[in-house]
Order: sequence, then structure tokens, then C-alpha cells
Amino acid sequence: MKLLKIPFFRLSFTSAERKEVLDTVNSGWVTTGPKVERLEGEIRKLTGAKYAAAVSSGTAGLHLALASYNIGRGDEVITTPYTMSATVQAILYTGAKPVFVDIDPHSLNIDPTAVESKVSKKTRAIVTVDIAGCPADYDALRKPARKHNLRLIDDAAHSLGADFNGRPIGSIADATVFSFYSTKNITTGEGGMVVSDSKTLINRIRHLLLHGMTSSGYKRYQGGNWKYDVTDLGYKYNMSDLAGALGLGQLTRFDKLQNKRRRLAARYLKKLANLTDYIELPYCGGRSAHAWHLFIIKMHPRRWKIGRNRLIRELDRLGVGCGVHFIPVYRFSYFRKIMKYKPSDFRVCEDTFKRVISVPLYPDLTFHEVDYVCDAIRWLIYRHGR
Ligand SMILES: Cc1ncc(COP(=O)(O)O)c(C=O)c1O
Repeated sequence: MKLLKIPFFRLSFTSAERKEVLDTVNSGWVTTGPKVERLEGEIRKLTGAKYAAAVSSGTAGLHLALASYNIGRGDEVITTPYTMSATVQAILYTGAKPVFVDIDPHSLNIDPTAVESKVSKKTRAIVTVDIAGCPADYDALRKPARKHNLRLIDDAAHSLGADFNGRPIGSIADATVFSFYSTKNITTGEGGMVVSDSKTLINRIRHLLLHGMTSSGYKRYQGGNWKYDVTDLGYKYNMSDLAGALGLGQLTRFDKLQNKRRRLAARYLKKLANLTDYIELPYCGGRSAHAWHLFIIKMHPRRWKIGRNRLIRELDRLGVGCGVHFIPVYRFSYFRKIMKYKPSDFRVCEDTFKRVISVPLYPDLTFHEVDYVCDAIRWLIYRHGR
């Protein structure tokens, strides 16, 4: 086998992005302004949400969504530990306490059947994560949310372009937060977007994302009233027009980007289908459409003579860059210090973490490279499987 070098992630831009960014540079207005406004409009169209507010990151968006619901000290927020630390950090920024619920072994999303038992008098919200781009079970999650009057906030960092039973992500939860970090399904370099059908919520977010000012720099620049007030302890969480322009460029080819992700995932699924004694393939069941942000496989440990970390090293030797999504949040030293959880509290999450490997999946990947990754896995099964 001729060795290839396939990084875990690779990104390239086209004239679509260059044109928008250059246009912004030439316009002389690079901070929050017309490009950000247009991007908000495009995301509204794409997701079917009524309102949208662009922010400097997905983390900022989560913080703002929680803060705008007045969630804070003394409150509890139910979420999954199987996520990037940002989900949990955003809850902690507000002063609220994150309460973890174990995950479903197939979707790797929060287990809706385990939510009810974690609801207390202090619970104010559920923050879901659509891991890898696979939507959480919103029908099942709505039940405890309605019953206990909890806000449903979707950390949709992975799931722009996905839908849950035919409804686009962004039109389901009370608030949905996208990330446009560089590896995400579209990028603005750094950035994010909060969408909701609640005008009150999005207006509150708009207010808090720029210092709690009653008027933005862009409005004042357009002339008229120079006066403004600062009415809240707001944040500096706005998106620049440079970032917005990059996002607009990306959106002009979003269908193409998503189509490529879907076709690459289908190729992996087909090529790995006869290896399921050794690896479990990602779940993409139900009537939902996966956004294919990540392609996560799970080893069946009893069928391997080597462990997960060694398999990642062997794949790396063959030129295939892999990742682990995710190290459960309660395992990090900071969270061990401030939370009382033990790994044994989350049986499914622990088992999953020890077995998962994310293989390369991004629009720049070629089908030939997918075939190579699958051949590398097959070769390693031949060498180290039992
Ligand atoms: C599940 C999840 N939530 C939140 C975030 C945070 O997004 P951002 O990097 O835009 O702040 C990420 C980023 O990787 C993520 O994967």
C-alpha cells in the first residue's frame, strides 16, 4: 500500500469567500455591520428560525442564551458530559450548576429517558448537544422540558444543516447555538450564531453581546443620534464583518459542502460495512438527517489485541490523522476539582470514550482518501484483530 498523508482536518477557501472578504476590506467597514446582518438573514433562511444574532463564538452564544433567560447562581442546568468543555463552561459562566446526564450508546447524545430523574426544583434548562451532527431526540426531550417548564437550548456546534424528523436544526429548541469555528460545517474563522423564534430572547442577546449598550457603533456611524446608554453589564461578544463576510462566502456553497460530507460519510459506511465485528459505525437512524460534522467509529474491544490509543498511533503511522470526540468533561482536572462526579457515574459515556476514534471527514477530503482510510483500518484488523 502506497502511504498517503491524510490530516484529521484540512480547509481551503474558494473565490466565493475571497470575494466577500475583499469586498469588506475595500468597504472600509470591518466590524459588526452589513455583512453580519446579511449572514443573520441567511442563517434564518437556512434554519427556518425567525430571529438570529451573530456572536464571536459558539461558547459566547451559549453563555448569552443562558444569561438572557436569566439563568444564574442557584440554578441548575441539565446537560451531557460527552461534549466539548465549552458547553459546560458556558453554564458555569452564568453561576449555574451543570448537572450531567449519561448518554445514549447509539446516538452518543444525552439520554432523554434519564433526564427526568435529574430534574430538581432548581432546574431551569436542558442544554443538548447534537454530537457529530446527529440531532438529539427532541420529541423525547420536549416532555420533561414542558412538564417542568425548562428551556431547551441546543448546542448545535456540530449540526448546521441537520434536521430532526424533517425539521431543520434551529427551528426546534427554544434557542439554538451554532459554532463557526474553523473545523465546523461552515466557518467564519471564529464565530457563532444564536437563533430562536423568540424576538424577546434575540433582542436581549443583541443587547448583551455589545456591552449592554442601547445603540451599536454601526447605527451611530450611519448618522443621527450619537447618544447611547449602557443599561446592563454586557459582554464583548459581537461578530466582525470580516468574519461575517467569510461566513457569507461559505454559505454560497453550503449545499455543495454538505452534499460532499454526506457522500463521504456514505462511502465510509459502505466500505466499512463488512467490518462491523470489529468496529461499530456511526448511528444515523430515525427520520433525521445527519450533518456529518464528524465520523466517529467505536472499537469492539474484545475483537482487538490492541487498545484504542494504540490503534490511533498505528493509523497515524499509516498517515491517517484521527481524533477522539470527546474526552468526557468530568475527566478534566478543572472539572474534577469543582464537581463531585466520578467516571463510574456515567457508564455509557465512559465505555464510549474508551472505544471511539474520529476519522477524517471534511469537504476537502477525496473519495480516494476515504478508501485509503478504510484500507488502513482493514489492514490493522488483519494485523491486530482476533
Ligand atoms: C459541542 C461544542 N460546543 C461548543 C463549542 C464551542 O464553539 P466555539 O469554538 O465556536 O466557541 C464547540 C467547539 O468545538 C463544540 O464542539
